[in-house]
Amino acid sequence: MQQPERKDTAHRMAAKTETPMDRMVSLCKRRGFVFPSSEIYGGLGSTWDYGPLGAELKRNIKDAWWSAMVHMRDDIEGLDAAILMHPRVWETSGHVANFTDPLVDCKTCKSRFRADELDSARCPQKPSKSPHQCGGELTEARQFNLMFKTFMGPVEDQTAVVYLRPETAQGIYVNFLNVMGPSRQKIPFGIAQIGKAFRNEITPGNFIFRTREFEQMEMQFFVKPGTDGEWFEYWREQRWAWYLNLGIRPDRLRWHEHGSDELAHYARAAYDIQYEFPFGWKELEGVHNRTDFDLSRHAEATGKDLSVFEEETKEKFIPFIIETSAGCDRTLLTVLVNGYDEEEVKGETRVVLRLHPRIAPFKVAVFPLVNRDGMPELAVKLAADLRRKFKVFYDDKGAVGRRYRRQDEIGTPYAITVDSETLQNRTVTLRDRDSMQQVRVGIDDLASQLETRLGL
Ligand code: GAP
Repeated sequence: MQQPERKDTAHRMAAKTETPMDRMVSLCKRRGFVFPSSEIYGGLGSTWDYGPLGAELKRNIKDAWWSAMVHMRDDIEGLDAAILMHPRVWETSGHVANFTDPLVDCKTCKSRFRADELDSARCPQKPSKSPHQCGGELTEARQFNLMFKTFMGPVEDQTAVVYLRPETAQGIYVNFLNVMGPSRQKIPFGIAQIGKAFRNEITPGNFIFRTREFEQMEMQFFVKPGTDGEWFEYWREQRWAWYLNLGIRPDRLRWHEHGSDELAHYARAAYDIQYEFPFGWKELEGVHNRTDFDLSRHAEATGKDLSVFEEETKEKFIPFIIETSAGCDRTLLTVLVNGYDEEEVKGETRVVLRLHPRIAPFKVAVFPLVNRDGMPELAVKLAADLRRKFKVFYDDKGAVGRRYRRQDEIGTPYAITVDSETLQNRTVTLRDRDSMQQVRVGIDDLASQLETRLGL
């Protein structure tokens, strides 16, 4: 009799020390959203792999962004540029000289820290202290370039150095004319791109918040100088609304304006959209007024004329750029943190991931109430029919209550159960993830009912 009691106490203690964020991270591993990369080799510093549900969720986030930024507009074109670019691009952009963080080493424990984030960093040997309180001696700060280098071709010397792009934006600038011509766009117009970016971050962490390999969703909007202030405000509004449409709680969002000490070398004005994560208010996306810095620099470096001629006014100018730059992985973390909820239902904890239906990995689950009397056959057929329109999960394992819970914790908005009544009158129960309310719906109305309820 002693044994189970000890187990219970241990379980309760573990539950006390774990935070909801810890439990959300372990849910991600357990249910196949996100795993440490190369895990069977012990993992590789802050790189992550997206499992079946994570891949689906990420894809849905990217689709939502692409739809809002490209498909729903006629003034933005899409692009998919190469990750490896001419190394001079990064000299021109200022990344070789300026894309650095100040780095200090601890002479005692050999750990490395960002000199500008020492207060929030923890000493690995004395986790209650920051690196300048733990007694270890720190080196002088030195600048550390965040770009990953590699070599192109068989010779590994300085002339063969290329970089893994640290942002997708430069692929857009160097293709400005290539896109504008064939698409017959005129200023103002934008170019959007989703793709991988790489930064050799000194202190990655907080799960997928800051990683060394990540995806960006960037849009560069080219405008006439003098109209940049208006467009900047327009894009701030649009991007804020996008997060609200994704179901992000407005009370956990805020703007942060960059002070003169924070402004990037290319920016005239910059605002970040921040989200209140369990580890503090952090940047989700930047909206920047980059002036004509980028196109002027590339024009100067290449000798190519990157100005445009405005027919109506007969004016020639280098466009200003308003940039919206979001992190895809960071948005994914945000929707997970924002949606993760634990509530007491009939004396048990129900974990529910309140994802917006638009991005939920599965839109609907289909269950036979029991595995007999023709219910599984009907449910399998129903699932196959719905799959033509929605991503459907079929489950016939275990008690139906457990099956609902399994769908709740991966964010499936609706669950359909085929029961004995279905066999008599072709109706099923349709259960709502958030309210747990069930209604009876005719099989023939299901697809249209779901479409309306999911808002697709
Ligand atoms: N082109 C401008 C640019 O790259 P940034 O503020 O450096 O601006 C834009 O990055 C967004 O990219 C950030 O708001 C964040 O969402 C994402 N991001 C940047 N570094 C990241 C990292 N190490 N891990 C995950 N996401 C990152």
